[in-house]
Amino acid sequence: MTGHSSPWRIVRLVKVAFLTVLLIALIVFSVATVRTLTLEVNAGLQLAEWEKTSSIKPEISKQQRELLLHNFREAIRIPTVSFSETNQNTTALQEFDKLLRKVFPTVFSSRLVKHEVVADYSHLFTVQGTEPKLLPYMLLAHIDVVPANEADGWEAPPFSAKEMNGFIYGRGTIDNKQSVMGILQALEYLLQRGYVPRRGFYIGLGHDEEVSGYSGAVNIVKVLKSRGVKLHYVLDEGLAVLDGVIDGLDGPAALIGISEKGSATVKLSVSTKPGHSSMPSRESSIGILAAAVTRLEENPMPRLFGYGPERGTFEHLAHKFALPLRFIMSNLWLFTPLMSRVMERTPTTNAFVRTTTAVTMFNSGVKVNVLPSHAEAFVNLRIHSAQTLQEVLELIESTVSDERVKIELVNGFDPLPISSFDEQSFGFQIIKKTVLDMFPQLTVAPGICVGNTDSRHYTDLTKDIYRFAPSWFKPGDAQRFHGINERISCKNYEELVLFYFRLFQNCDVRSLPTPHGSQHEL
Ligand SMILES: *[C@@H]1O[C@H](CO)[C@@H](O)[C@H](O)[C@H]1NC(C)=O
Ligand SMILES: [Zn+2]
Repeated sequence: MTGHSSPWRIVRLVKVAFLTVLLIALIVFSVATVRTLTLEVNAGLQLAEWEKTSSIKPEISKQQRELLLHNFREAIRIPTVSFSETNQNTTALQEFDKLLRKVFPTVFSSRLVKHEVVADYSHLFTVQGTEPKLLPYMLLAHIDVVPANEADGWEAPPFSAKEMNGFIYGRGTIDNKQSVMGILQALEYLLQRGYVPRRGFYIGLGHDEEVSGYSGAVNIVKVLKSRGVKLHYVLDEGLAVLDGVIDGLDGPAALIGISEKGSATVKLSVSTKPGHSSMPSRESSIGILAAAVTRLEENPMPRLFGYGPERGTFEHLAHKFALPLRFIMSNLWLFTPLMSRVMERTPTTNAFVRTTTAVTMFNSGVKVNVLPSHAEAFVNLRIHSAQTLQEVLELIESTVSDERVKIELVNGFDPLPISSFDEQSFGFQIIKKTVLDMFPQLTVAPGICVGNTDSRHYTDLTKDIYRFAPSWFKPGDAQRFHGINERISCKNYEELVLFYFRLFQNCDVRSLPTPHGSQHEL
């Protein structure tokens, strides 16, 4: 996930968690005569008859198990840090290129795979399918990581890949080298065992996701567009498996990201005549700006809970909650106003209710006895799915409502489109099936990413973008993203490799089954 812009990351989503605490408060409002409503949205296609695809058993030997961990740890040891958009460790990125070629020799030599370096450090793999009529799909991951300093309190040096108590510690273990290496490792093993895909696919590995992906992802997309490529779906990093994180939910849940919030950085500035502090005018540039900022904080963006994809999340999870909560979550049409008021009280859940407003910088003044002629502040907003960038800018103008305050958009983009997640949705159903093949105990639900990913650059190639990997998160793990002691269990990394191993094969179905067993073309 992109971090430059945020404390607002994926992670925040993980904290949907805290919702429960809030939901408990709602019990107060639930009446005695509660009807039992069961939304069994989860069963769906899982009970239907799936077409058999080439089945190379998702099994790996003890030797392969050791090798995949060894390869992964080598990847963690290369400090592919993005310090800023103009400062990346290119030495490390080059070294990473060499590592990929060394540890995945079959991928790099297979006649089925075409490999290209894009924008010097990103990688594009094109894999031929035997049935070119089937629309290809694409898997994404990113090679770069955010900086890490051991002194911040790491239990192991952040680029050591040290193994402790069954976990591998290091920057990139969950964001996002587990997918970079997991995807290629799975393909390596499949090709070694003679796998020939029926449906073609692409793998895109960006090198600057943490600083917006304007070099890697954007150029990969350019290459694909120039070739007229259309994709069935894209799967990128994003959400994960939440285990014990959502209080009150019976069992772990896999949340598949179907959208991302939009983003805007707005600069507010005030210019006045400079002067001596002994004869000040009634209002200073600082005072005018401070008042404008205060108005923005006191008048948050409107509540929109229930108008975006967060509604689907609740409805899919409802049947896994005990009664009062189940009732509330199955009846959002009734409880939405109440829910939003409760949810907005906590920053983590407020993020699902509205476009958030964060004042992040405030600069003015050079000398204690000089009235500054200029003051400026930066506001970072994360735009709810039910709003547009333009609407947000208009609201800022009407709230500030002072022509002495200049308002400029520094950068921003609309919320991402909402990908399909119904029973005809190829990508969603394939990902869901693959998750349930491996972890039948999971509840699968659509979710929304509060942070952004490289996949946001792919909207011209497909309408269906999903953000998910089966990384397992327990309470407290959210803080490890871009934080200290980022880690993954050895077992979970193996599971990731096997997830992609199964996913490639599951994508070879020509069409999805219908719940009634008859087939329809996709
Ligand atoms: C960049 O990466 C190389 C290894 O590829 C490493 O030796 C060097 O210390 C890194 N530089 C910085 C500034 O992190
Ligand atoms: Zn990431």
